[in-house]
Amino acid sequence: MIIKGKKRLCGQIRVPGDKSISHRGVMIGSIAEGETIIENILLSEDTIRTIECFRQMGVNIDIEDCRVKIKGVGLNGLKDPNKVLDCGNSGTAMRLISGILVGQQFPTTLIGDDSLNKRPMDRIIVPLSKMGANIKGVDYKYPPLKILPSKTPLESIDYELPVASAQVKSSILLACLYSNGKTRIIEKNPTRDHTERMLNYFGAHIIKEKDYIYMEPKGKFIAKNIYVPGDISSAAFLIVAATIIEGSSVIIKDVGLNPTRTGIINVINDMGGSIKIENVRILNNETIGDIHASYSPLKGIEIQEEILGTLIDEIPIIAVAAAFAKGKTIIKNAEELKYKETNRIKAMVNELKNMDANIIELPDGLIIEGKEKLKPATLKSYNDHRIAMALSIAAFNTEGESIIDNHECVNISYPNFYETLFQLEH
Ligand code: S3P
Repeated sequence: MIIKGKKRLCGQIRVPGDKSISHRGVMIGSIAEGETIIENILLSEDTIRTIECFRQMGVNIDIEDCRVKIKGVGLNGLKDPNKVLDCGNSGTAMRLISGILVGQQFPTTLIGDDSLNKRPMDRIIVPLSKMGANIKGVDYKYPPLKILPSKTPLESIDYELPVASAQVKSSILLACLYSNGKTRIIEKNPTRDHTERMLNYFGAHIIKEKDYIYMEPKGKFIAKNIYVPGDISSAAFLIVAATIIEGSSVIIKDVGLNPTRTGIINVINDMGGSIKIENVRILNNETIGDIHASYSPLKGIEIQEEILGTLIDEIPIIAVAAAFAKGKTIIKNAEELKYKETNRIKAMVNELKNMDANIIELPDGLIIEGKEKLKPATLKSYNDHRIAMALSIAAFNTEGESIIDNHECVNISYPNFYETLFQLEH
């Protein structure tokens, strides 16, 4: 992909549906009783993997544009897929579906692509095994995962999350549906709570009190319809683009504004960015509204550990904002970035350096000293959708032509990213 800087971005757009909510809608709709219709679902490589996994387990899922109709089979109605379930590049698919599979009376194997095969699964194997699940990985840690039927019901647990991870938390909550009592999860720093919200919307009773999340199993779920808000993690690329490119002003309609996801807005505002939120309302237990981002000179800041869980996917694009900000931005305690689709610390350091940015790699983060200008370059995406999109925005704010290799990986979460970007060019 060739990116030609530097034109201002103006206009009103929508971003595709939220990836996390789309995955969860398919999973929870599949084990509910009755028909769930999901509107504005994200149909990307990742979420299609989840849809295919449940189809293979006998769930009837019709797709029509961005609308899916799921004939839920109930908590115990899934069928033996009789072949491996392929999660592709998706950590969310593998970790959350495992939570459901440990409660089934048939064996399953979950596989992934080269990137997913390198991502740690011991973080779910440990708590699910504590619940009595029979789940094994390669070297106790990596995919493929083999899950065998275990005694029913599973044991409820009391578990402190060793890493801030919504995927681990969600995997345990889904397994709790197949357990014998009250599970307590201790979460010191908040992470996205879409699973809690969606399970409650479908009739569960999950309570959050300070750092504790309590859940009891529920006999059955009745299907519910869902409207998926736009993905704030996709909107983040356009928010930063509008903020750093002189003369820009972009309105993004109907974006998810769940407080466990809006760290990016707080950070850009703290950096001096101009972001206005309008038209806020609640839809199926999630907050939704419009975001208006416009050009404003940024200053560097230090990002605190407590909010990292609310912006973990946005660090690559925050690094781009920091590279154009006045002064120093410090991001520490973000070791989790090493275990994403690629090592996102290394990827951003290598590629922003390539553009002449002042950036230092830390074992658990980054230090960036902003500059007024970066230079165009040939940039590697490492086949990671968020790296490709973050670098594309950095390239857009240079004078000249940059090349992003393997840009097709944006299909993982934002298939029409480049169309939208070019549509906003003025
Ligand atoms: C996700 C949780 C996050 C995030 C990922 C999606 C989810 O991962 O990085 O893109 O849908 O629960 P962790 O919870 O492992 O940090």
